[in-house]
Amino acid sequence: MQSILVLHGPNLNLLGKREPGVYGVVTLDEINQMLERESQVLQVKSVALQSNHEGVLIDAIHGALGQHEGILINAGAYTHTSVALRDAIAAVNLPTVEVHLSNIYRREEFRHHSYVAAVAIGQISGFGVESYRLGLHALVNYLKQF
Ligand code: DQA
Repeated sequence: MQSILVLHGPNLNLLGKREPGVYGVVTLDEINQMLERESQVLQVKSVALQSNHEGVLIDAIHGALGQHEGILINAGAYTHTSVALRDAIAAVNLPTVEVHLSNIYRREEFRHHSYVAAVAIGQISGFGVESYRLGLHALVNYLKQF
């Protein structure tokens, strides 16, 4: 069975409490539960990890080699700052889908650039929790080719 690594970046552990007007009221646990259910339907395995630390996320990406077939990532603010995260995704060369709860292009200009986008298959941004569900479907669909 194919396995997907789901990575959540900084501050996403506070979902539900954090700026609910922007990010909604659904908690990270609830998102992970939804992804679990959706994975069962899609007949894949998914393993979720959240970290506020760039190096931990990079180690998890390295560790995905040989363990997972694809990566679903919301890199949070590291999306806009981290060349290291981008390089880690490029290094392992695993199909990666980038997701964001908010539409990063409707927000402050510093959120308009994503370092992850250039190494991702694609990006889904602006649909709240649905971004994760759509992202998982897109990734699994992509992996079906192999
Ligand atoms: C986010 C958007 C980022 O700009 C922000 O720093 C986040 C969350 C989103 O899911 O909308 O932490 O990735």
